Amino acid sequence: MSSILHALRRLGTALSKLSLSRRLYLVLLVLVIVTLILVGRLILHGLANLGTLVFGPRLEPADMAGSHSLFYEFDPATRPDAVEMIPLNLPQTKFELTGPYGARDTMLITNHVCLNRHMGLFQLKHNSEMFDRATLPAVNVRASDAEFDWYYQGKAYTSEEFIERQHDFERDGYSTKMIVLRNTTLFAASPIYAGHFSHFLVNTALPLVEQQARQYGPSDPAEHRKYAESLGWLSERRDLILLGDLWSDDKLYVGRSDPLQAFKFGHIYRYALKDLPIGCTVCYPRVIFGLNNTCPYDGCTHVPDPAMIPYTSTRRMFRQHYMAAEEVAAVERWEAAGAREPLDSRPSVIVVQRRGTRALLNLGEIETTLQQLGLDYQVVELENYTFGEQVALFSHTRVLIAAHGNALGNLHWMPPNSLIVEAWQYDWESYWFGHILDVMRPERNITHHVIACKDFSCTRESERDPNYNSKDRAVAIDVKQLRSVLLENGFGHKGSE
Ligand SMILES: *[C@@H]1O[C@H](CO)[C@@H](O)[C@H](O)[C@H]1NC(C)=O
Ligand SMILES: *[C@@H]1O[C@H](CO)[C@@H](O)[C@H](O)[C@H]1NC(C)=O
Ligand SMILES: *[C@@H]1O[C@H](CO)[C@@H](O)[C@H](O)[C@H]1NC(C)=O
Ligand SMILES: *[C@@H]1O[C@H](CO)[C@@H](O)[C@H](O)[C@H]1NC(C)=O
Repeated sequence: MSSILHALRRLGTALSKLSLSRRLYLVLLVLVIVTLILVGRLILHGLANLGTLVFGPRLEPADMAGSHSLFYEFDPATRPDAVEMIPLNLPQTKFELTGPYGARDTMLITNHVCLNRHMGLFQLKHNSEMFDRATLPAVNVRASDAEFDWYYQGKAYTSEEFIERQHDFERDGYSTKMIVLRNTTLFAASPIYAGHFSHFLVNTALPLVEQQARQYGPSDPAEHRKYAESLGWLSERRDLILLGDLWSDDKLYVGRSDPLQAFKFGHIYRYALKDLPIGCTVCYPRVIFGLNNTCPYDGCTHVPDPAMIPYTSTRRMFRQHYMAAEEVAAVERWEAAGAREPLDSRPSVIVVQRRGTRALLNLGEIETTLQQLGLDYQVVELENYTFGEQVALFSHTRVLIAAHGNALGNLHWMPPNSLIVEAWQYDWESYWFGHILDVMRPERNITHHVIACKDFSCTRESERDPNYNSKDRAVAIDVKQLRSVLLENGFGHKGSE
C-alpha cells in the first residue's frame, strides 16, 4: 500500500513540473486510448455477431469412428486446440460442369457450400443460378425418374441475407456458430430408390465409392485401394448429404445394417438436416454434386460402357468392411485360382426364398434337382441376414437361384465365372440384372440365365388376376431347364442321380 502511495506522490510531483499545455495533452492522450479500447470492443462484439469462423483440425481416424457428434467435436469450448479464428471473409465460388454423358451424367464440383438446418444447402455470395435446374447435374442430385424428381432446391444467399438470418436465429435464442471444415469434401447425392436395395446399391452406393476413388485416387481402379489407404480416406474427412427422393431414413438400412457405413464417411446427413443444431452453419471447402456414372447401369441409355466395368475395388472395400481380413484373403485367392469347388464347407449354391411376395412355389422340386446333381446347396431367407452377412455369404456363392428381385443385387459380391438363374414371374420381364451383368461381364464373366414363367401354370391360383402386380407373383421354376443350365455351366454331375 505504502509503495503505491509513494508512486502516486512521485507522479504528482512529476506532473506539477509539467506546463499546463503538456498536462492537457496528457489528459487528451488518456481519453483517446480509452475511446479506442471501447470502440475496439464494440467492433469485436460486432464480428462475434457475424459468426465466429472455426477451422476444424485435420481429423484422426478415431475422430471419425461412428461419430455423429461433429458439431460438438469442433466446439471451441471442448476442443480449444482445434480452433483457429480467422477474419470473416465470405468465400468466392467457382464451379465447373463436367461429364461425357451430357446433362444426366455430370458432376458439379464447387467450393464453399454451407449447410444450415433452416437455410438448407446454400452458397454464400453467389448468383442463384448455380442451383437452377438447368445447371445442376441431373443424376443423383435429382432423381433419374421424373416420378421421383423432387430434386433438392439449393439456394444462394448474399452475405447480407445470411447475416440477417443469423440475427433471426440469435433473436430466437440460438447460438449461431459457424464452422468451416478443413480438408473436408461434402458429397451431395440423391439416394435413388433408397427403398430398393439393388437400385440403391447400383445407382448410389457403388458409384459413390467409385467416384470417391476417382476423386481421390489415380485413374487405374486397381490403384484405388492403395490410394485410399495411403492418403485419402483415413485422414481427409468426407461427409455425405443425401438429397432428393429419400423416402425415409430407415430405408437405407438393409437387414440390420446400413451399407453406407462401409464408406467411412465422417458424417452422413439425411435430407432433413435434422442433426444440425438450429442456427449452426457448417461450410465445406469443396463440394461434389452428383455421381457421374449411373447412366450405363440405369434406364438412361442402357448401353454398357466398358469404362464403367469397375467395382472391383468397391467389392473389395465392402468385403474388407464386413469380413475378417483372413476371410477376404482366402476368398480372393479362391477367386484368382478360378476354382470350381466351394471354398470351404459352406455350400456355394444358394437358393433365395422370399418370405412375402414372389415366393418360389416349387422349392421342394428345386431342392430335389440340386440333390440329384450332387450339389451342396443352402436355402436362405435374406430377411435373416444383415447387409454385411449378405456380402460374406455371396462372396462364397458360385450359383444363385432366385426370383427376380433385390436378392439378385448380391451379384456384386459373387466371384468370377459364377452362374445366376433368375426366375421371371408370369407376365413380367426385366433386363435390369442382365444389363448389370453385361457391363460386368468382361471382368466377372457371370453367366445370367433367365427361366421365364410363360403361363398360369407356374403361378399361384390367387395371383392369376390380370390386374395383379405381375412382378409380385409367386413363381415355379421349370426344373428341367434349371437342371440343364446347371450342367451346361459345369455345376453338378449327371452321374450323381
Ligand atoms: C489440409 O488443409 C491444409 C490447411 O488448410 C492445407 O495446407 C493442406 O493442403 C490440406 N490437405 C489436403 C489433403 O487437402
Ligand atoms: C466422369 O466419368 C467419366 C467416365 O468414367 C470420366 O472420364 C470423368 O473424368 C468423370 N468426371 C469426373 C469429374 O470425375
Ligand atoms: C429365418 O429366421 C426365421 C426366424 O428366426 C426362421 O424361422 C427361419 O427358418 C429362418 N429361415 C431360414 C431359411 O433359415
Ligand atoms: C466364363 O464362365 C463360363 C462358365 O462358368 C466358362 O465356361 C468360361 O470359360 C468363362 N469364360 C472366361 C473367359 O473365363
